[in-house]
Amino acid sequence: MKAELPNPARGPLPVATVPKSEWPRHPGWARRMIARAASLPISAVNGLELLGNTIQRVANTLRFERFWNEKITADPRVVIVPTFNKTLGKHPIWNVAINWLAANTCSGQIIEFGTNNGGWLKYFVDRLPQTIAFTGFDCFKGLPEAWDGLPAGSIKGFGAPTELWADDPVARAKVMADAERGIHFPEPPQSNVSIMTGLFSETVPLFLKDGWPKDIRLIHFDADLYISTRPVLDTLCGPLDYRYLILFDEFYSANHEFRAWQEFTALYKLDDWRVVAASEDGSQVLIEVNTRRALAA
Ligand SMILES: C[S@@+](CC[C@H](N)C(=O)[O-])C[C@H]1O[C@@H](n2cnc3c(N)ncnc32)[C@H](O)[C@@H]1O
Repeated sequence: MKAELPNPARGPLPVATVPKSEWPRHPGWARRMIARAASLPISAVNGLELLGNTIQRVANTLRFERFWNEKITADPRVVIVPTFNKTLGKHPIWNVAINWLAANTCSGQIIEFGTNNGGWLKYFVDRLPQTIAFTGFDCFKGLPEAWDGLPAGSIKGFGAPTELWADDPVARAKVMADAERGIHFPEPPQSNVSIMTGLFSETVPLFLKDGWPKDIRLIHFDADLYISTRPVLDTLCGPLDYRYLILFDEFYSANHEFRAWQEFTALYKLDDWRVVAASEDGSQVLIEVNTRRALAA
């Protein structure tokens, strides 16, 4: 039957109505039972949520242990590096990624989600050929939501990727002072580096406007939150069908990056991936995705 189109001459489409009730008429009995507790104070509701998160964290921590056993203990190829410390920082695992890239390619692009002051970006840009293009994504306003005990707005840094100007201390100081006064930073001094400012939900669609990149080599996830990691994994990484690296910075955060990775691999039925390197405590984890496929041209 052909659907009836609204026609001003015949009046609007008919709408069936029922009398308004004080509460929603839930179809399920379980939902109706819970709804009876609607007058609980909001502090009790928040407490319930906290309990739920804690239980979820315990479950995800148990999943993390299994992941470690299956993907790290059982694979003799995995390189284990020291946990972040003041002397070495995170350089050991970063160097594993750089060595992999240097051995495999001198073109393509590297992307970072969560650029902050740009320390990671500068380290990689300085050690890889200029023929590789870098893009850093950040809102430069700190974490949009609370994360593992830190309130929303934490880890704002200087509000600009100041480290990109580290070779020119005067320019760096100006970028930092400008950021404090709300003046946006200029184009980075490295011609192969671009910065996309804004929430990932705003900038990733712009980045993908011409389709999925065919030459990604490495993606660094350093935005800490589940909500900043999972949607990007789904949107950007889901359709990538060639070999590339992902480096997580807070993988041991069981309800966040780890959970995002678990759910993403389940959604895309992705089983062709391996851990290349991990820090001793599991916070930084370097993953090779689509290991049986060729590197993108
Ligand atoms: C841990 S810091 C990144 C550190 C950085 N990689 C470095 O080398 O210094 C996390 C950053 O993620 C950014 N961030 C988190 N979620 C975001 C989102 N949804 N959109 C944009 N930026 C986000 C925050 O603004 C913050 O600067």
